[in-house]
Amino acid sequence: MCGIVGYIGNQQAQPILLDGLKRLEYRGYDSAGIAVLRDGKISVRKCAGRIDQLRKLTDEKPLGGTVGIGHTRWATHGEPTDLNAHPHTDVKGDIAIVHNGIIENHVALRRHLEGQGCVFISQTDTEVAAHLIHTLYRGDMMAALRETIRTLSGSYALAVLNENEPDVLYCVRLGSPLVVGIGQGEMFLASDIPAILPHTRDVLILEDREIAVLRRDGVRVFDDLGNEKTPAPLHVSWDAAAAEKGGFAHFMLKEIYEQPEAVAKTLSAYVGADGFQPMLPGAPDRVEFIACGTAYHAGMAGAEYFAHLAGTESTAHIASEYRYRILFPRENQVVVAISQSGETADTLAALRKAREMGAHTAALTNTLGSTLDRTVEKSLLTYAGPEIAVASTKAYITQVETLLLMAMDLGLRNGSLTSDRVQALLSGLRELPEKMEAILQNRDFLQQYCDRHLHERLMFFIGRGMDYSLAMEAALKLKEISYLPCEAYAAGELKHGAIALISDDTPVIAICTQEALLEKTLSNLRETKARGAETICVCPQRFAQQASREADIVWPVPDADEMLLPLLVMLPMQLLAYSMAVAQGRDVDKPRNLAKSVTVE
Ligand code: AGP
Repeated sequence: MCGIVGYIGNQQAQPILLDGLKRLEYRGYDSAGIAVLRDGKISVRKCAGRIDQLRKLTDEKPLGGTVGIGHTRWATHGEPTDLNAHPHTDVKGDIAIVHNGIIENHVALRRHLEGQGCVFISQTDTEVAAHLIHTLYRGDMMAALRETIRTLSGSYALAVLNENEPDVLYCVRLGSPLVVGIGQGEMFLASDIPAILPHTRDVLILEDREIAVLRRDGVRVFDDLGNEKTPAPLHVSWDAAAAEKGGFAHFMLKEIYEQPEAVAKTLSAYVGADGFQPMLPGAPDRVEFIACGTAYHAGMAGAEYFAHLAGTESTAHIASEYRYRILFPRENQVVVAISQSGETADTLAALRKAREMGAHTAALTNTLGSTLDRTVEKSLLTYAGPEIAVASTKAYITQVETLLLMAMDLGLRNGSLTSDRVQALLSGLRELPEKMEAILQNRDFLQQYCDRHLHERLMFFIGRGMDYSLAMEAALKLKEISYLPCEAYAAGELKHGAIALISDDTPVIAICTQEALLEKTLSNLRETKARGAETICVCPQRFAQQASREADIVWPVPDADEMLLPLLVMLPMQLLAYSMAVAQGRDVDKPRNLAKSVTVE
């Protein structure tokens, strides 16, 4: 999705803006631009394509000045063209804005503004906001922005330059994130924290309908009635290096290799010498997870954990479905929204619906200060550090781990688990990082496999119970970065239709972590082998011998408690997707059509 950066200080704005945009590239975009204010004059450089193309433009015609805004656009209204790229200006060009989100009443506003003589040159909803602010501005920018908030509907984060106020950078948000970075004699603005990490780790997270006024010596924040507020800055523990590649070919590979450390950090955040830190409050008799994509798959695993370890009814829901579903509220239920970014529009909308029906709400997110983190009764963080690659890996693993810990904590409190069982699981968790390292050290076999299977027509991932959720995640990883068509199926369901797709060019990968279901899944694998499929089984070492009787290939992972195996078997699946994408020459970190954080419905 789109990204915003802004700067006001004593340094040249252009390199800071371009560097910030580069750091936001991972969000997904198709055009980019910057505007810089100098000597009371705004100048814009923008183009379709990558930041490198924008750099060429600014190398040819640099923009001097110490105040500026920048944007990466992910097209929603109008194609990714030079004209549609942000920043957009009003008729006279004395106001320039960048915008994230969608202005829903842009058609009516456009008509109205055209009636007032505004000439539009782009197809975007954003240009409407530029003209609107210009027509509302009568020498008082705060008043114009307050009126803008009243007029626009939809979601937006706006950063605004005004030639009449050359030493101020304005911004306002509703439903789209914006953070202000606090420096010494300089202020930064971004839609996402990694963009400003090289400059400062002290940030102000703006709330909906707040207007921030950035000057070199400080920032003031006002509500939409003009009352000044005094929000407390947050100190972010991530450093800039955590959001850089650090010698790895791709962010995704780096993030896969960071998983042992992320698992250890998350464990120590929630389990101390005297037991569990407070996790889910109370003793709910139903737990529902709402999430999208990979986070939904983590929720599916969480539902298994709550059933197995806490004896609690639990279901995972796709957030975009849940928000329109007829719900049957129960008094003692908790709805847990899971989201790496904490800004996914569908998840936030589903959460609102859950709250409206009177459920207690909790969040599991990787992003401190995100909308999700700030809008629930109980927010739990994952300690994965910044995840830059669009394909989620370490965030997913730490989500699954935290859900396991939540279920263990509840199971211990409601008597479903003995403390001996909890201690055994905790010591297994402490051994996990080492076992994960062992898997990561040996990935050559995957390369060989990918070289052989580069041109498969279709691939299947199968599993039962918990393993079905893992199969779903394995398939999603492969789809999103290698674009290889693949299906995830509940193993027992194959024979009810999809087995018709199986032939000798459809490899089938079975994930087997649960002893009670091993024989059943292997027999489904056998059925696909009988129809010509090459079969692979991913399982713990202790199942390897039995699996090798049915599967052509066995990819074993180190033995561990059944409840911990999901955290191990997903590693070869992530590496498989990565290796396949590299072998296909894909843009691993920024797959086509995808965005890191999906802030529109
Ligand atoms: C993960 O690999 C995907 N890019 C995607 O499915 C993602 O998990 C989904 O969009 C939800 O994002 P969130 O965790 O930030 O809410």
